[in-house]
Amino acid sequence: MKKLSVSHLLGIKYLQLEDLHLIFETATHFKEVINRPIKKVPSLRDITIANLFFENSTRTKLSFELAEKRLSADVINFSASQSSVSKGETLVDTVNNILAMKVDLIVMRHPNPGAAHFLSKQVDSCIVNAGDGTHEHPSQALLDAYSLQEKLGDLKGRRIAIVGDILHSRVALSNIYALKMLGAEVKLCAPKSLLPKNIESLGVTTSSDLMSVLNWCDAVNMLRVQKERMELSYFPSTREYSQNFGLNGARLKQLRKEIVVLHPGPINRGVEVTSEVADSEQAIILDQVENGVAIRMAIIYLLGSQLNRVTT
Ligand code: NCD
Repeated sequence: MKKLSVSHLLGIKYLQLEDLHLIFETATHFKEVINRPIKKVPSLRDITIANLFFENSTRTKLSFELAEKRLSADVINFSASQSSVSKGETLVDTVNNILAMKVDLIVMRHPNPGAAHFLSKQVDSCIVNAGDGTHEHPSQALLDAYSLQEKLGDLKGRRIAIVGDILHSRVALSNIYALKMLGAEVKLCAPKSLLPKNIESLGVTTSSDLMSVLNWCDAVNMLRVQKERMELSYFPSTREYSQNFGLNGARLKQLRKEIVVLHPGPINRGVEVTSEVADSEQAIILDQVENGVAIRMAIIYLLGSQLNRVTT
């Protein structure tokens, strides 16, 4: 059986191109499985997984949980607001207590950048990063790239734009790493205040002119404005932001070609995309959600199988 080059999924930055191909190949197999009348396989029936969410999540949490259950793993869920973390327990103590219950794999979302990396050095378990603050969100980038490949074919030389709150977005950083690794050209579009300094060093270009970016690209990933991460005001008003950086039907119609529209969710309808765009044929937002389960099955299956406990 082919193996990943890593024993944790901490970020796209730590993966090789072969890892991406292996995850995509495995996800294609699982996508076929989850479209069968019986959507479950016994592959991970000996594995116990804890989903530790120290930050709010709907899609990612449900998607991981469903992926784990479709692989027949035993699953426990933990949310920080209902836990002893609020009583002052450290992250390492919380996780070691959970591991003492014989948990094999931890999926963790945490508000601090680097939290998953830190944990992987401190505890003896396989860690999957489900989003660490403004840093990385590897499973989202994998499902975005997979969904793009499904629509456009090989991404080598394809032009992909990422529009919106690049500064606070873990989706943007992980997408940049994944898309560059797959050979795509990447352009970031945002108000200057939401573009991190020196981001061009990652091999991307930047612009604050939405129409020229839309005319350039084959696909656009529209990011949410992450208000909860902003201590300051990064633009004058939401109305002005959506006038300059929001995607609406009129803008799509002005283009010389049809582009693919992605959004990681949750959508602020009327801010980064209008309902007309979100519900259009060009948007692949619900394909992303469907592929998310297959991609997360692939990640959990590949890492879980490397634990040497599985009988397949
Ligand atoms: C993203 C996240 O949490 O980083 N959403 C998600 O995982 N579905 C993007 C966002 O919150 O805007």
